[in-house]
Amino acid sequence: MKAMLCTRFGGPDDLEFADLPAPEPGAGDVAVAVKAAALNFFDTLIIAGKYQMKPAFPFSPAAEFAGVVDRVGSGVTTFRPGDRVAASMGYGAARERVVIAADRLVRVPDSVDFDRAAGLLITYGTTLHALKDRAKLEAGETLAVLGASGGVGLAAVELGKLMGARVIACASSEDKLALARQHGADATINYAAEDLREALRRTTDGKGPNVIYDPVGGPYSEPALRAIGWEGRFLVVGFAAGDIPKLPLNLVLLKNCDVRGVFWGAWSEREPEAHRANIAQLMNWCADAKLAVHIHKVFPLVQTAQALKAIASRSVMGKVVLRP
Ligand SMILES: NC(=O)c1ccc[n+]([C@@H]2O[C@H](COP(=O)([O-])OP(=O)(O)OC[C@H]3O[C@@H](n4cnc5c(N)ncnc54)[C@H](OP(=O)(O)O)[C@@H]3O)[C@@H](O)[C@H]2O)c1
Repeated sequence: MKAMLCTRFGGPDDLEFADLPAPEPGAGDVAVAVKAAALNFFDTLIIAGKYQMKPAFPFSPAAEFAGVVDRVGSGVTTFRPGDRVAASMGYGAARERVVIAADRLVRVPDSVDFDRAAGLLITYGTTLHALKDRAKLEAGETLAVLGASGGVGLAAVELGKLMGARVIACASSEDKLALARQHGADATINYAAEDLREALRRTTDGKGPNVIYDPVGGPYSEPALRAIGWEGRFLVVGFAAGDIPKLPLNLVLLKNCDVRGVFWGAWSEREPEAHRANIAQLMNWCADAKLAVHIHKVFPLVQTAQALKAIASRSVMGKVVLRP
């Protein structure tokens, strides 16, 4: 089988396109023919050795996939060859065939295509956990989303609307804000062109958002926190801008607000039942056309480097998918 391999830490051009023997499923495992593998921002960090997780070499990037069950190992009764399935797995999906424990797979409804099934697991899984389990977002509340056209950001726009919130999308260009509006955003702020704190206050009649979803960090977190509403919840999701900001704690006191961390991967290991319920909910919403899951571009597996460069260049909107 073909596989995209990281054999040493480096940039996208250091990846190697290789032939490997197709893996066979052991007891309790399932072999899946990958139809789509989705990339995330953190894939640009994993291959560079700059992510919290450092896999042993050689490994494949891409932490989520969708495909068709090819063979099942002994003891597996829940899946059979031909079933449409998807899973997230930390890393390792940029290849033609994946072997994974059966209990990590979820079923993909017939009406959800493989690209969107692969692309919704991590971004929408993270975001549903963030908004529902961490922020306890309620209908009628105001949600501000930073990086609102990115993978997790656009998921936050869509899920925020679905949960009944008023959504303020914040991003760095008019094109990105237009996409967020197409996905339901009620108001938009271009933080490359105007002061984020003032714009958030103006857009909320001076009250400030109830919930702020921040996957960007860098220069945007502090002005966003300065604008948060009384008893607001500030969600720390990621640091795509590179710098991890330090927040003045007096702001947390003065707003009677909470800063809440979101570590979806660790939560999904600790709370597998709640995680499975969230993913099943997301698949059903996607099947019912309540979630769009915007695909920015599909690249053939051999062009994984170009796909990773697009993510790193801040030009991607929604998800990037690899097709073996
Ligand atoms: N906590 C968790 O469990 C969890 C789970 C998944 C992902 N994450 C994290 O969430 C963050 C976003 O992930 P993603 O896959 O959604 O990324 P993405 O699709 O690349 O989106 C990131 C967004 O960040 C903004 N950005 C600002 N400065 C940037 C820069 N220098 N380079 C790239 N983007 C920049 C961009 O929006 P503008 O141009 O509009 O600013 C971009 O749309 C990452 O830090 C990732 O590690 C966390």
